Amino acid sequence: NKVLFVASECYPLVKTGGLADVIGALPLALAGEGVDARVLLPAYPEVCERLREAEALPLPGGRVLGQEGRLLAATTEEGLKVWALDVPAFFARVGNPYVGPNGHDWPDNHLRFAALSRVAADIAGHGVGRWRPQLLHIHDWQAGLVPAYLSADEIDLPTLFTIHNIAFQGVFPAAEITRLGLPGRYFHRDLTEFWGQISFLKAGIAMSSKVSTVSPTYARELESPEFGWGLDGLIRHRQADMCGILNGIDAGVWDPASDPLIAAPYSVEKPAGKARNKQVLQERLGLENDPNAPLLCVVSRLTQQKGMDLLLENLPQLLWRGGQLAVLGSGEAHLEAGFREAAFNNPGRVATVIGYNEPLSHLLQAGADAIVIPSRYEPCGLTQLYGLRYGTLPIVSRTGGLADTIIDANAAAVQAGTATGFQFAPVTPERLRHTLDRAFDLWADRKGWRAARRAAMQSDFGWSASARLYRNLYRRMLKEARQKKM
Ligand code: ADP
Ligand code: GLC
Repeated sequence: NKVLFVASECYPLVKTGGLADVIGALPLALAGEGVDARVLLPAYPEVCERLREAEALPLPGGRVLGQEGRLLAATTEEGLKVWALDVPAFFARVGNPYVGPNGHDWPDNHLRFAALSRVAADIAGHGVGRWRPQLLHIHDWQAGLVPAYLSADEIDLPTLFTIHNIAFQGVFPAAEITRLGLPGRYFHRDLTEFWGQISFLKAGIAMSSKVSTVSPTYARELESPEFGWGLDGLIRHRQADMCGILNGIDAGVWDPASDPLIAAPYSVEKPAGKARNKQVLQERLGLENDPNAPLLCVVSRLTQQKGMDLLLENLPQLLWRGGQLAVLGSGEAHLEAGFREAAFNNPGRVATVIGYNEPLSHLLQAGADAIVIPSRYEPCGLTQLYGLRYGTLPIVSRTGGLADTIIDANAAAVQAGTATGFQFAPVTPERLRHTLDRAFDLWADRKGWRAARRAAMQSDFGWSASARLYRNLYRRMLKEARQKKM
């Protein structure tokens, strides 16, 4: 089966969050299931830099939205086949994929990502060389217009739309519809129209053959107004075509036994190296070198979604119980400032690194004792999965993928030796405080903590199970498409 992935990020070429991890790993896992999956993504400068050996091919549709460009075809070291869409007018800019140096979204984001979707449809129509996809697996709003272009071109191929975060919707003024190269009739409430504007995300949900999201719990949550961000009605309408498939982790990249980015290797059988990582991390961040202080960490975008304000509120409690905190993240100014100030006021106890730092994120997972993820909503979440693998117990809110992957250390689970972390609900400072207390209590019971750490490290969240679910879904979709044609 030939499947074209269309997405705006792909690890290790470009990454701002979990989407990149998924796009970098799932196609490789699918290869093991007999699926030939390739990735189309934009050729931002860092992507071009990493693909210097790539072969340049003409765009299958000539130009795209009036612009010149080409496809950079390459296979990454990991064996992933990618096409990077090199349209200098859209992508040759220094900065973040979505946001300019002034902190605002690029003003032509609708054209930039429409171009990505437009070229995906051209690949579906013409193929690249002899390769033509049988199915398109498209991700988030940046790829949301793919089914609209396929429909406009009368190309009858099944599409799977995966929602990684319903809060990012790609909403733009209605007048832009023709600049997107879509006939005006596509501005319709069953297609792209959303409260008088164009929504790329809505188009993806409304027009794709099937819709999925990245955990079973988030799939259910999306049906409610609280989590659906105005699209819950449409999600309910599409319920029969909707499913939740949990993300996995790239167990090669995230393996404490072989991770070159950490200070000492360790594993369930030989856990000793974890203490060395803690020591190195404490030194590196200027934290007191104390093996007995439970070291909590954060590796996260610092945004409303991630609930980091709740953690800030609980800092006094965390310190009073003898904990240390190490934060790596960037995002909203008031949260960055809050964590900076916390570090300033608590030298040796709190350390804050503002910014994006892939190697440090590995050392944090290896050196910390627990990772705090108090998200208000979390479609899947990957950092709790990395935490499990690295024996860094996740302290999480019970929502989305966090609810689906962590076994709370309640009395029964501790007794049975199955606990892998701590969950709290609802998402309030009081409940987080209560759960931090539970975590500190288990820390004091060294045997209980070690048992949970062992269970955490043994939980299997590699990609193989989920890759199989995607493969089965693709097969069902292809079968349905064949039946429709008969
Ligand atoms: P989201 O995609 O919502 O940000 P996920 O948990 O799915 O959340 O994925 C976040 C990914 O980004 C993880 O791989 C995490 O390690 C990484 N990450 C987040 N913030 C940083 C940072 N400041 N430095 C390095 N990696 C980060
Ligand atoms: C989004 C979600 C996160 C998920 C990631 C990959 O960024 O916020 O929960 O893990 O996508 O699917």
